[in-house]
Order: sequence, then structure tokens, then C-alpha cells
Amino acid sequence: MYKYKLKIIQLVKDKSKMDLSVYDDVFFDGILKKRIENTQTYSHEKYLTFLKNNPDEIPELINSFFIPYSYFFRSPLIFTYFNEVLLPDIINNKFKNEEKELRIWSAGTAVGEEAYSWAMLTDYFMNKINKYIPHTIVGTDSCSSQINKAKEAIYPENKLYNVPQKFFYEYFYQHGKENKIIPRIREMVTFYTFDLLSPEITKTPWDTNFKFDIINCSNILIYYNKTGREAIITKLLKYLGKGGYLITSRSETEIFIKYPLKQTINSVGIFKKTN
Ligand SMILES: C[S@@+](CC[C@H](N)C(=O)[O-])C[C@H]1O[C@@H](n2cnc3c(N)ncnc32)[C@H](O)[C@@H]1O
Repeated sequence: MYKYKLKIIQLVKDKSKMDLSVYDDVFFDGILKKRIENTQTYSHEKYLTFLKNNPDEIPELINSFFIPYSYFFRSPLIFTYFNEVLLPDIINNKFKNEEKELRIWSAGTAVGEEAYSWAMLTDYFMNKINKYIPHTIVGTDSCSSQINKAKEAIYPENKLYNVPQKFFYEYFYQHGKENKIIPRIREMVTFYTFDLLSPEITKTPWDTNFKFDIINCSNILIYYNKTGREAIITKLLKYLGKGGYLITSRSETEIFIKYPLKQTINSVGIFKKTN
């Protein structure tokens, strides 16, 4: 079975440049099992033959690794902390250093819920202090169809359960049976298709020297093995400015402990870059 798994990884790499060897073993096996079921091939060996003979199955398999599950304000604690502590800290430092642009990156944004949550909070904060803060808010994902959906900004009810009521009335409007984000918030976010594992560290949609104040990378590293995680974290840290914040999910905090980051509250995924 292992032999066929390696052959599948090699075939996908040859045909698409996508390296599936960086995924966590259990996650990988689960995805493969589903594709074997869906294609009714019933064994690794037969699935490999199917993959060789059906070029359409390669993108199908690759897409199965992109799990777009997300919702607005997924970690309410982090967003509250952002409002009360992080943003005032970042903004004060910026005014001291005379660099005034706030820069936020939602890395692995799925269909945009996370990036728009940051935009809503930034907008809310600007209203609170009654001051405009120039900002760049970026949402990226390796899956281009998810990025296209993010740009549409239309969401079903079940993605909105954590949205504070005042945000719901201010930032969404009815769109058929779903909810669409108002243009002001949509325009605050720029979306790009971008793979955090693209080999060249400098291959980003922005300038090599660009530094973010906040990078949110949540519920992504769990899908990867050590090699994949290290490659992603190296990329994130390159683009996080000194004193900037790395935000992750509670279950991923341990992964970041050995990096030059200081955890701001125990067991919550908020780290400050120390050098
Ligand atoms: C489970 S969702 C998490 C969405 C959001 N960050 C959250 O916490 O709700 C994982 C997302 O990460 C994206 N992703 C996985 N690997 C990636 C990579 N190497 N580069 C960019 N995006 C990636 C997937 O396509 C998917 O949309």
C-alpha cells in the first residue's frame, strides 16, 4: 500500500508540481480513501492506474486537500483581544515610528470569512477612534475557486453565527436567501490565489520587503507534516514585521513554540515576533 502511495505522490508531482508528501499521514490517507471510494477503484493499486489514465482526476485529488471549512469570527476571543489590546498597541507604535499603514494577512483564508472578519474589525476600530487608518488587508488561499468565491462575498446563514449583531446589521445585506458583505468592507480586502508552499520564498503577490503587522494562519498547519509546517512557517515569519503578531488556532499553538515568537496569552494562539 505504501509503495502505491509513493507512486501516487510522484505521479501528482510530475503532472502538476504539487507535492503531496508534505501532508500529515492520517489526513493524506483519509483523503486517498475518499477518492478511492468516489472513483470506485477499491484499492491503491487500481486508483494509481485510474489516476494515470484519467487526467481529470489529478486536479480532483489535489482539490480534495483544500478543506474550505471556515466561518466569521471563528475565534471570538482573538478578535476581542485584537480590538482591546493588539490594535491600540500596533497603531500607537506606528504613529511613533511614523509608518502609518496597518497591514493584515489572512493566509489560507478559505472563502474569505477570516479576511472579512479582520476588515470589519478594522472598520469598527476606525469608527471607534474616529480616525482613518490607511490599511492593506490581504486574503490568500491556494485554491483559486475559493478565492473567486471570496471575492463574491456571499455567505449562507450558518457562516454567520459568531457575527456580533451590530456587525450583522452594519456590514451585511440580504442577497436572495444568503447574505452579502457591503462594498465598503469588500473593498478593504484584496484576494490572491497563493500557495504558502510555493518553493521560492519570495514568490508572493507583494513586494519582497513588505512586512505585515498581523498574519493570521489558522487551521492549516494541522493538515501538514513537519516538513510542510516548517516551510509554511518560514514563509510566514519572513513577511511578519518585528513586533508583529502571528495568529493561529488554539490547537496549533504548540507548533509555534520553538520559533522566535512570544506567546501573549497562555494557550491562545497569539504570538508576537520578537526579532
Ligand atoms: C480549514 S480552512 C481554514 C480557513 C481559515 N483560516 C479558518 O481558520 O477558518 C484551510 C484553508 O487553507 C487552505 N490551504 C491549505 N494549504 C494551503 C497552502 N499551502 N497555501 C495556501 N492555502 C492553503 C485551504 O485551501 C483551505 O481553504
